[in-house]
Amino acid sequence: MKRVSWMGQRALLLVFALASFAGQANDLQKLGHIHGIAFGGEEGETLLLATHQGLFSYEQERAQRISDEVFDVMGFAIDANRKAIFASGHPASGGNTGLLKSIDGGISFERLSLGVAGPVDFHQLTVSGINPEIVYGVHGKLQISADGGASWRVQSGSLPPKLLQLAASDVSDQRLYAASEQGLYLSDDQGKSWRQLFPYPATSVVVAHRRVYAFVVGKGVVASAEETLFWREIDNRFGAQVLLDLAIAEEGLRMVGLTQMGTLVESVDQGLNWRSLPPGPQPSSAQEKRGQLLFQKNCQSCHGIAAVGETYSIESLTTQNYLFAPALNGSAHAWHHLDEQLVDTILEGSPRTPKMPAWKESMSEQDARDVVAYFKSLWQEKHRRCQGPKHMDRDCLAE
Ligand code: HEC
Repeated sequence: MKRVSWMGQRALLLVFALASFAGQANDLQKLGHIHGIAFGGEEGETLLLATHQGLFSYEQERAQRISDEVFDVMGFAIDANRKAIFASGHPASGGNTGLLKSIDGGISFERLSLGVAGPVDFHQLTVSGINPEIVYGVHGKLQISADGGASWRVQSGSLPPKLLQLAASDVSDQRLYAASEQGLYLSDDQGKSWRQLFPYPATSVVVAHRRVYAFVVGKGVVASAEETLFWREIDNRFGAQVLLDLAIAEEGLRMVGLTQMGTLVESVDQGLNWRSLPPGPQPSSAQEKRGQLLFQKNCQSCHGIAAVGETYSIESLTTQNYLFAPALNGSAHAWHHLDEQLVDTILEGSPRTPKMPAWKESMSEQDARDVVAYFKSLWQEKHRRCQGPKHMDRDCLAE
């Protein structure tokens, strides 16, 4: 397999830098940062959100705080029997929480332990699927508890660099998976030593129902039975989005992903098709719908489904100066241009690359206007209001 080039790595850093500016005008927006997601509740079908402002449930497009206390939930894990919710992060008053545990579904949390050299703020937290006494947390180094989180020791060996997520196995009390900017890794000795499964940046890994799911940049959502480690590439049409966490319900039928922009995407067909959660703005006028057809025919192959942007491929990660087809749905900066400029780019192509060709031979000016009307129908109201030079106007953006 080809190695990921330095440029590819840089592309990924840019992705993370984007995280701060895509806005979402709904209930989720008020929560601030979402750090993690999981299915919990009695049946394991309630989506839980670990956020800057405590633990929330999200049902029927409504976010509701569950935790009595407002605290920054960074690390977050539910045991396989859904008896205990572990959390770690920062109290509203500042400092670190140490390891917290809730046995009432996340309403009240009690501090179980400070952790080693604590109080810790475990940003990664996971509990063994077959022995709920084994809990792992990362506070600089990997720490492990063999008594349900009451006492901790630092594990020997070292973690994969630039770790993003850890997941404990459902089939072995020795096994751990790690997603890191350097790859997807596996350990069969409780995190002392690691071997690489994919050499591409992996932004999330979770275990559910004896299956392991991961988001690997360039491959998209991949999954395998834990016993075989035979990977299936499920979907790679996420455009410029990467998934920083995954929540799996109904034996993998329903999946929710957390993007680096802090937004949610959902699949109800085992990960084959994804849509934003809650559903975003949609085309409605005849012009927008006409533009949508033109977009699907001519532009979607590069600019992605619903204009989410070109998806990361192995080629894009291993080619220097690779130029991506940007998202046109408002999450990149198409909205910094006026309609005239967008129409001009479509008809004349990009002066920077033949990859964005001139469409004037096959499209009329009206066609180009229709396509612009289509992708603008996907923008948030703020993007339409502050389109063009006004994107620099703080007052416009703040309204
Ligand atoms: C073969 C791939 C490809 C196809 C097909 C394609 N584009 Fe592009 N497009 C690109 C690339 C690559 C860029 C970035 C160019 C640059 O950075 O200069 C781009 C840039 C753009 C931009 C400028 C966006 C910005 O933020 O400045 C617009 C608008 C655009 N494309 C619209 C379209 C439309 C509409 C279609 C279909 C009619 C289309 N593109 C088809 C690859 C493609």
